[in-house]
Amino acid sequence: MSADPDRDKPIVHEYDGIIELDNQLPLWWLYTLYGTVAFAIIYWFQYEILHASPTPEKEYAAQVAESREAESARLKKLGTIDNKTLAALAKDVKTVDQGRAVFAANCAACHRADGAGLVGPNLTDKFWLHGGQPEQIWKTIRDGATREGAVMPPWKQLGDEKVVASVAYVLSLRNTNVAGGKAPQGEPFSE
Ligand code: HEC
Repeated sequence: MSADPDRDKPIVHEYDGIIELDNQLPLWWLYTLYGTVAFAIIYWFQYEILHASPTPEKEYAAQVAESREAESARLKKLGTIDNKTLAALAKDVKTVDQGRAVFAANCAACHRADGAGLVGPNLTDKFWLHGGQPEQIWKTIRDGATREGAVMPPWKQLGDEKVVASVAYVLSLRNTNVAGGKAPQGEPFSE
């Protein structure tokens, strides 16, 4: 056996003939460790404290919102109104926000600000008097509906854009089952 150069360093532990020496850690190792600690602190400040950069989750959400917005802009330009188009618009934050404003101004008086129903039916459950397909909802809002003396006025005077936005908003309310809502009316609808 060749002589061990570390043999004369102080022994820190000895147990059952196994000895632990007081070796210096290599500098490259130490600096890598310090580097990772510094990186972790900077990273933590940047993402968790200062929120200076978006987390991957937020970045992803922003990208999804952006592509949905582009898709809605494309669909709006096409001008077709069908189940698919309306369902896509219901996923676009901007269209739904516009619909929320239309709803607050024109519909909340009868359907409650959160859509859970007053004179008008609850729009947050899965029951529909005039059909729960996006196209059916669009027709109800555009042309109005009457049934046993209950009147939902027509809204086509608001113009296509606002009517479509309100459909998107109503679709976003569906099945959210807001607490304290009006009892279900009509037939259950599931996609
Ligand atoms: C004057 C009160 C009133 C206003 C304002 C009103 N609604 Fe209605 N809405 C009703 C009533 C009442 C019904 C149910 C009609 C029936 O029983 O046939 C209804 C039905 C509906 C339905 C169909 C629900 C179903 O179960 O099929 C939708 C969707 C709807 N309203 C959306 C809207 C939107 C969007 C607006 C605003 C642009 C609006 N309503 C404004 C009273 C109103």
